[in-house]
Amino acid sequence: MSISSQRLAGRSALVVGGARGIGGAIAARFAAEGARVVIADTEVEAGQAFAAALGGPERVRFIETDISKKADAERAVAEAVTHFGGIDVVVQNAGIYPWTLIENIEPEEWDAVLGVNLRGTFLVARAALPAMKAKGYGRMIFTSSITGPRVTSPGHGHYSASKAGINGFIKSAALEFAGYGVTVNGIEPGNILTEGMKAGRSAAFIRGMEDSIPLGRLGTPDDIANAALFLASDESAYITGTTIVVDGGQTLPESKDFRLTPS
Ligand SMILES: NC(=O)c1ccc[n+]([C@@H]2O[C@H](COP(=O)([O-])OP(=O)(O)OC[C@H]3O[C@@H](n4cnc5c(N)ncnc54)[C@H](O)[C@@H]3O)[C@@H](O)[C@H]2O)c1
Repeated sequence: MSISSQRLAGRSALVVGGARGIGGAIAARFAAEGARVVIADTEVEAGQAFAAALGGPERVRFIETDISKKADAERAVAEAVTHFGGIDVVVQNAGIYPWTLIENIEPEEWDAVLGVNLRGTFLVARAALPAMKAKGYGRMIFTSSITGPRVTSPGHGHYSASKAGINGFIKSAALEFAGYGVTVNGIEPGNILTEGMKAGRSAAFIRGMEDSIPLGRLGTPDDIANAALFLASDESAYITGTTIVVDGGQTLPESKDFRLTPS
């Protein structure tokens, strides 16, 4: 449960990959905080229904978007500029995470993962910059991961490369855009219980993940939306070029046996 303080009143935001999961929670939180929101996603039916449930076209619009495509990224930004008078906040949260060992990753699968996760990040930043530059204000927020920048597991070679790449891109973009009043930051979620995450993992595997988290539970999409709200708000005005880890302490332990009374 979160209490709205209208921290984004009058702002226009684009949330890519906002039809469900983490992006859905971010879109809902931004709308509750007074922003007008464009949800851009490949999932048309779910995206349209979600946008309608959050307030309909005057407040929340949906646009079909494959963020790995340049024209789609530009159309998504144009949707916010045309209907909401500009774009103050862009969140690139769309990400895919197939599980394949490196020896079995076909180059096409590599390109698909890098295409959405990393190229999509570059494309939407590139598309949003002119409008933000013209206004002298902007907040770019990219969903990275602890997987890649900090830790990894077998089967995530392409995914890890894409997320570590996002962190590098965040630094470059933050430096280049600082003079335009545009900040660029990211969030590194730990294990967050979403449809996409549940679909690829067994209940036993998920229980195992829970056991490795010092705060004792998996994260929720709202845990990430809270961090995104902070980065989108004026309270983060002096923060750029960095990421916030939201992982319940998962990346802290130096050994598996991290409880206070080791067995
Ligand atoms: N769930 C986790 O534990 C976790 C952990 C770390 C990072 N992340 C990252 O958070 C983000 C969201 O993850 P999630 O678990 O909510 O995933 P999800 O699969 O539940 O939702 C992802 C959304 O992105 C959309 N999408 C996929 N490809 C797209 C494309 N080409 N263009 C536009 N939209 C597209 C999907 O339709 C979906 O609505 C991803 O970037 C993921 O890598 C998730």
